[in-house]
This record gives sequence, C-alpha cells and structure tokens, in this order.
Amino acid sequence: MAEQRFPTGFLWGVATSSHQIEGGNHNNWTVWERQPGHILDGSASGKAADFWHRYKDDIKSAADMHLGAFRLSIEWSRIEPIEGEYDQIALDHYGKILAELEKHKLKPFVTLHHFTLPEWTTKYGAWTSRHVAEKFVKYALKVVGEFGDKVDNWITINEPSVEIGLGYAVGTFPPGRNDIPGFLKARRNVVHAHREAYTQIHGLYEAKGWAKPQVSIAHHLTYATARNPKNPLDRLAAWVYDQLNNAYFLEHTRLYADCIGVNYYFYRRLYFHLGGPLMVMAETQVPRAPTSDLGWQVVPEGLFRVLNRVAAYNLPIYVTENGLADADDDLRPWSIVQHAQSVHRAIAAGADVRGYFHWTLLDTFEWENGYSARYGLVAVDFKTQKRTPRPSAKLFADIATHNALTAKMLERKP
Ligand code: GAL
Repeated sequence: MAEQRFPTGFLWGVATSSHQIEGGNHNNWTVWERQPGHILDGSASGKAADFWHRYKDDIKSAADMHLGAFRLSIEWSRIEPIEGEYDQIALDHYGKILAELEKHKLKPFVTLHHFTLPEWTTKYGAWTSRHVAEKFVKYALKVVGEFGDKVDNWITINEPSVEIGLGYAVGTFPPGRNDIPGFLKARRNVVHAHREAYTQIHGLYEAKGWAKPQVSIAHHLTYATARNPKNPLDRLAAWVYDQLNNAYFLEHTRLYADCIGVNYYFYRRLYFHLGGPLMVMAETQVPRAPTSDLGWQVVPEGLFRVLNRVAAYNLPIYVTENGLADADDDLRPWSIVQHAQSVHRAIAAGADVRGYFHWTLLDTFEWENGYSARYGLVAVDFKTQKRTPRPSAKLFADIATHNALTAKMLERKP
C-alpha cells in the first residue's frame, strides 16, 4: 500500500483528563472510589500520575513527539471547591500549564467537564438538578474569561452519554443509580448546560473582541450494527443503541456546535434479545478482531463509519479520543496506524476531519478499572512516578512528524 498523507495543518495530539492524571483531587469520584466494589482493582485515584506537579516534563514529552495539539481538562472541583467561591491559585496553576503548552507550540483543546463534579453538587442531586447545570455554566464562564485569549478550542462536556448513562441508568459511575426518570432529567440538564455555556462563551468572546472560538462536545460515538442486517429486529436493536448512545446528544446540540468531537472505542454487533441491561438487545463478537487488555475488541473500521455518519452535520470533526489498554504495547502500534488509516479514508470520502488525539499520553487512573488498565503512550510506574515511553510513542511521533502513514507502517499486522 502506498504512503498516505494527511492534509497540511492536520493536528496530531494527545488527549488527557484532569482527574485521571493530576492527582490530589477531591470530587464526587474520590468519594465514589473509596466505597468498596466500585473500582476493579480496589485502587483510588490518589496521586495519579502527579501531572499537577510534573506537567512541565510531561508536556515536553508530548512536544518531543512533534505533536501539534494537547487536550486537557480543567477540574471544576479545584476551581470551585466550595460553592460560589473560586480559587484563584488553582486558576493560576492552570494558567501555568497553558503557558507551558504555548511555549512548546502545542495548541490547547480544553475540556471544561470530564466526568468529575465538585462534591458539593451531590447534595443537589448532581446532574438531576437544574441548579447544578446553571452552576456549571457560571464556572465555565469564569474559566473562559480567564483563558479565552489563549484558548480557541473549548469542549464543554466529555462523553455526556457515558457519564449520564453509567451514572444514572447503569449505576457503575457516581452517583450509581438505576433511575430512569433521573437519567432522563440528567440528560436534559446536561443539554441545557451545554447550550447555555455554548451561547454564553460566544457572547463573552464577542464582548472581549477575541477571535471566534470553536465550542463543542466530545461525544462517545460507537458504531452499532445489526448482527443480521436482514433481520428487522436486529436492525431495531442497533437503532435503539444508536439513539441512546449516539443520536441523543448529537441531535440535541447540533445547533450549538462549531465542530464535532468524536471519541471512538467501540464497534458493536447487536441482535434483538429481551432482557439484559438495554432491554431489547445483546451483543455478539466481531469475527477475528483483536482484543485489548480489557478484552474490548479493537475494530478500526468503526471509526471510518462513525466519521462518515457525523460528516452529515457539515462541521469540522476532531477525533478527540481513541486508544486502548495495552500494557505490553503489542497491539497499540497496529491500532494507531489502522485508526489513522480510517481517518484518512474518511477524509478521502469527504469528512472534514481536522485532527486526531490519541488517548492518552500517560498511564492514568482509569475510572472503574483503576490502575489495572494502561492506556499511555508513556508508561508510568505509580510507585516511583517514573515515566518510560512505550514503542508506540516513537511510532506516533513518526506519524506526526511526516503527517503521513508510510507504506511500511501500513504493512504491520495485529
Ligand atoms: C473514555 C473517557 C476517557 C478514558 C477512555 C478510556 O470513555 O473519556 O476518560 O477513560 O474512555 O477508556
């Protein structure tokens, strides 16, 4: 296969989130982590990768990969640890992190909410409360007012379908509920929070005379398909999954989006089956797909299909996350090349994809899986905080440097 070049200016980056790497956070997740049975390996986020203190070295390692962009999130619970009281010291610290990115010419993509809420939101019912949605908008405006002149890509909320689905319907994320009315309410409040933040962020940029930013959501988009495409019930199962996981937030925010963020991890083959967590469906394996350390099948083809689907919105698209748990790094190189190739195919088919962010730079605290899942281009020894780049870091650097996939890279097998 011939070399595949990406458009000039295509952004290669890494994606991270505050709670998973910073360490020392106090929020609704730190409370959740301490309760038995919530985290697979019984760990708590604790010091995580200590990015709060080691950000200079870590940003340098991203710069050494010749990347053009860096996605990070701001921790609401640090900025507003007590309701209504903003912490200027924490804001200034994020200012230093952003300055470091600027120094290394890494374009910041800043997420304002990546799964974690200040603990004080719990007493209101977290996302089931309209008051919390309003407080989010105020916090967002505070942060944007502080850094708007340095940031032109804001992601209001990361993967709302995951946070709300797992938190309020499935019960494996805080607040751990199986409450359908609560789930529906939380979804509406998140949509409200995003729309309001979107409108007010644009208003603020206009008032300040800053150049128009891109404001969006990082959606968790799964490719869902019928096991037997000729069976209408299997097609119904795939449609229901798509509605719940993909369509709801895409459709309800389509008029409040300057671009679309796509986090891609799953290709699901579904069939009709009564019972189970999603009531009308069950999942079957994709034949011959390799699996990550978590047993998740890795199917790069789904990224191509998902990008084609969202191309219909006629907006710029960024792959804001894609990666896999792979401590030995035996599958990651193949996965990176194949997913990048899916992006390349989608661009050739007309999707306006402007960047690809690998999840993630460093090993992290990985939500329900704690420290048992290793997603980093750079391995972290959490006892000593020693960093060791995995071979994939070099491969990703080569791709970013050449802005292309070489014929040799494309020959790699899983
Ligand atoms: C995403 C999430 C990330 C990370 C990743 C790996 O759903 O946004 O925070 O955990 O999954 O599983």
